[in-house]
Amino acid sequence: QDNGYDLWLKYDKIENQTIAKEYRDHLKSIVVQDADETTAIIKKELSLALKGLLGVAFEPSTFDSNINALVISKPENLPEDLKKSINTTKLEKDGFMIKAVTLSDKMHTLIIAKTNSGLLYGTFHFIRQLQQQKNIKNLEIVDNPQVDLRVLNHWDNLDRSVERGYAGFSIWNWHTLPDFIDQRYIDYARANASIGINGTVLTNVNSNALILTPLYLDKVKALAEVFRPYGIKVYLTARFSAPIEIGGLDTADPLDPKVINWWKTKTAEIYKLIPDFGGFLVKANSEGQPGPQNYGRTHLDGANMMASILKPHNGVVMWRAFVYSEHDPTDRAKQAYSEFIPDDGNYLDNVLIQVKNGAIDFQPREPFHPMFGAMPKTPLMMEFQITKEYLGFATHLVFLPKLFEEVLQSDTYQKGEGSTVAKVIDGSLHNKKITGMAGVANIGTDFNWTGHLFGQADLYGFGRLAWNPNLESATIAEEWLQLTFTTNKEFVEPIKKLLLNSRETVVNYMNPLGLHHIFDTGHHYGPGPWVSNLSRPEWNPVYYHKADDQGIGFDRSFTGSNAVDQYAPELAKKFGNIETCPEAYLLWFHHVPWEYKLKNGRTLWDNLGIKYQQGVDEVKGMIKTWEAMKPYVNSKQHKEVTMRLNIQLKEAIWWKDACMSYFKTFSKMDYPMEMEKPT
Ligand code: GCU
Repeated sequence: QDNGYDLWLKYDKIENQTIAKEYRDHLKSIVVQDADETTAIIKKELSLALKGLLGVAFEPSTFDSNINALVISKPENLPEDLKKSINTTKLEKDGFMIKAVTLSDKMHTLIIAKTNSGLLYGTFHFIRQLQQQKNIKNLEIVDNPQVDLRVLNHWDNLDRSVERGYAGFSIWNWHTLPDFIDQRYIDYARANASIGINGTVLTNVNSNALILTPLYLDKVKALAEVFRPYGIKVYLTARFSAPIEIGGLDTADPLDPKVINWWKTKTAEIYKLIPDFGGFLVKANSEGQPGPQNYGRTHLDGANMMASILKPHNGVVMWRAFVYSEHDPTDRAKQAYSEFIPDDGNYLDNVLIQVKNGAIDFQPREPFHPMFGAMPKTPLMMEFQITKEYLGFATHLVFLPKLFEEVLQSDTYQKGEGSTVAKVIDGSLHNKKITGMAGVANIGTDFNWTGHLFGQADLYGFGRLAWNPNLESATIAEEWLQLTFTTNKEFVEPIKKLLLNSRETVVNYMNPLGLHHIFDTGHHYGPGPWVSNLSRPEWNPVYYHKADDQGIGFDRSFTGSNAVDQYAPELAKKFGNIETCPEAYLLWFHHVPWEYKLKNGRTLWDNLGIKYQQGVDEVKGMIKTWEAMKPYVNSKQHKEVTMRLNIQLKEAIWWKDACMSYFKTFSKMDYPMEMEKPT
């Protein structure tokens, strides 16, 4: 039985004979121009797909205009007959074109790209059309990646533990590398390439300088060699204090010539081993990590020092904006904006500032980070978390592309209405030369890669959105379900609905109405709104919900912390006024009286209870829907998902009961009628 290892690359036989016959007729011969490592991968993938889907053994051939052919080629290498029928002006970078061409009664399908990676992406896209049983007769697709750097961030440690990883251990076996190449590395590259990912940061942002020593760099080189033909570059996290820890210097001051020289030599050493090394990802002066501020310098000093060294090698620095400290206890949400915005325009052009989607930390719901759109001269990368640190780990079913879409489609108003976050990320809002999107990986050694089978959808969706930040989550859901399970509508329609609703469900039973960061200490699993004894104020949940006898919520309005002021004036006004603030963000921006009436005429307190209950009821609904799907899913997978859904229900009730009974000690009001009382 299918164990989930193949992800969305399942090439099960197409049962519909009409469609299968049509495909076979159209794919009588397969022509792959060029012979190199990437085209070898393309050939292998096609033979696997065609054998699986159509039962056809694949024999590469040369082009014969009298036989229906699938032709994969760069424009300049196309057979002469076909060159005339295409126009490649719309083709950019690693984009691809798929076009059906009829030539003297024969139908040829062309996959054209200017680069090898483009050909590979086009091939995977074409195979997806077959898996989804789409009509391929009139194909006319031009699909260019809208974002340059589409990277996974592995928070993987050298001892193979994974920070916030819930799918087993790290897939990088540092012990057996470089000589032993696990098949998983190859399958990993293949899966990533299939969704357009072109970079991977191998190591945790809380980094270990050892990765930069020759012993480890040899291992990194081995991985880079596996990934290269798949179009995937390797990046590393750079520990800012590495010059001290592994370089023997007494400082890591970014303006000290010895330090600069150390990074120069180290970088040259890396590029000698890995000529296409992508660059560094840096977490500095955040959560105890070393950084330029330790030496009285700024993020700008640190980032530019590294960028100037990487520049001649074509490398980039991805400098994280996830910074906060105990020194500004009024509102952690404001710190990143205040530290980075003043330096807009001063960063070198190979620096990208990597910004989490919200200003706190990957909560079930946050308003978009106010930095998006506010640095017109600096490339800002999106950082999403694919692993579910605050969303029930790999136990709860929550379809994250819906969350990603909400953030990407948020309007920043920074250049008037329609200045969406997506336009900041794809660079179109301010004409950025380089763009990027990062996702904190949810991959581990678990057989199915992601622990929860449905976690595969989050990885898939991240890749698709990094390629095109304007894709709709509904499209992604449908694609993923068809590729992973079946094209049968009886399955796809109800489960698509389930996926699309699942994000709101988790918000309802964990953090409704703008509540945030009320998770239990450290592990962030389950409720802990009462926690107040941690050493730093901004680590305590009570800092975020601020419940008292009057009400609940963090006042970030003009009369509160004034965090609203970091948004464009239109939004600041809207968020800053309790009457106009969207209810979904109400307690994010306001301290609201328990008796305050919401739009439905009920009190805030009643609404909290109603939302928590709604979350629980929705999980019950998910269980029912899934139960009816037995005929379409293999019994092992069906059972596994059922078990996890039952845990989710138990924990949704736990969240409701814990939060409501704790908050009741402040509100001192009766539970609303609709809510099942805590037992
Ligand atoms: C969160 C997470 C940490 C992580 C940090 C980061 O705070 O809990 O484990 O290191 O984010 O993104 O740097």
